[in-house]
Amino acid sequence: MSPEDRPRLLGDALDRTLAETMAGVARRTSAGRVADYIPELAGADPDAFGVTLASVLGRTYGAGDASTEFTIQSVSKPFVYAFACDELGADVVHRHVGVEPSGEPFNAISLDGRGRPENPFINAGAIVTTSLVPAPDAGERFARIRDALSRFAGRELDVDEDVHRSEATTGHRNRALAGLALAAGTLGTDDVDAATDPYFRQCSLRVTTRDLALMAATLANHGVHPLTRERVVGERTARDTLSVMATCGMYDRSGAWAFRVGLPAKSGVGGGIVAVRPGDFGIGVFAPPLDEAGNSVRGVAMLEDLSATFGLHMF
Ligand code: DON
Repeated sequence: MSPEDRPRLLGDALDRTLAETMAGVARRTSAGRVADYIPELAGADPDAFGVTLASVLGRTYGAGDASTEFTIQSVSKPFVYAFACDELGADVVHRHVGVEPSGEPFNAISLDGRGRPENPFINAGAIVTTSLVPAPDAGERFARIRDALSRFAGRELDVDEDVHRSEATTGHRNRALAGLALAAGTLGTDDVDAATDPYFRQCSLRVTTRDLALMAATLANHGVHPLTRERVVGERTARDTLSVMATCGMYDRSGAWAFRVGLPAKSGVGGGIVAVRPGDFGIGVFAPPLDEAGNSVRGVAMLEDLSATFGLHMF
């Protein structure tokens, strides 16, 4: 084998390993339900399943439905959190939102003794984080968030307008969470819609597992995108974001996740999950059926298997 052939052969082997791991997971898991509390999500293909791994050197490996688009949903939260921290400083952000795992479902009514949502990844905390992004109005706030998430992905991301409409017309609980944060003095704006409208739109951005893997790899690479080489966020921000992902990324399953998989991660009700091996690579997985906590059943199983097979557990 010549030295030039080595990366390709190793790459082929990794593609194959990902495909084999997926096939094993698909054989043994069919449980879970596609999210339907946002009506437009109910139409997702329950059999869709894809994975991409992106290294900090910019190499990508994948299998299955790795170029199928789906909405990012809560996987947007760590990236918006990183953007807000980079813009304002983590100290300012954390006057408004805590860093404690809530041990509660993603849509819980959760404020600590200082009126702050427990962490930036439950809905209450994510809406507050979005509201902090400096902008004169809701439209500009979302434009800045879309731009930031696009830089994390290394390509321009677009909104799925049907999902956004569906989410905006049914998102009464999220408006109520924003209202409670406003009453507690922790929302970044005095207009609930100026927080929830950009939040609904950020959740409706379309991504593939390749996008998620590169977004995660940017965090793994201390804030620099592996392909565009752009510094998207500062090194300290990347570290802070991974710390919160390690403790709060999987809602009320964050403890079990840390125990079994041992990687910073974040899930979304569209069926996506990102996981990060700091300094090494990011992984994006997509499979729509969810467990009761709102995490992709096959996505969790896939990452458990990959962690075990490759010894990825960080602790
Ligand atoms: O706030 C919501 O309901 C959704 N747009 C996002 C929630 C979500 O993805 C929770 N994750 N598992």
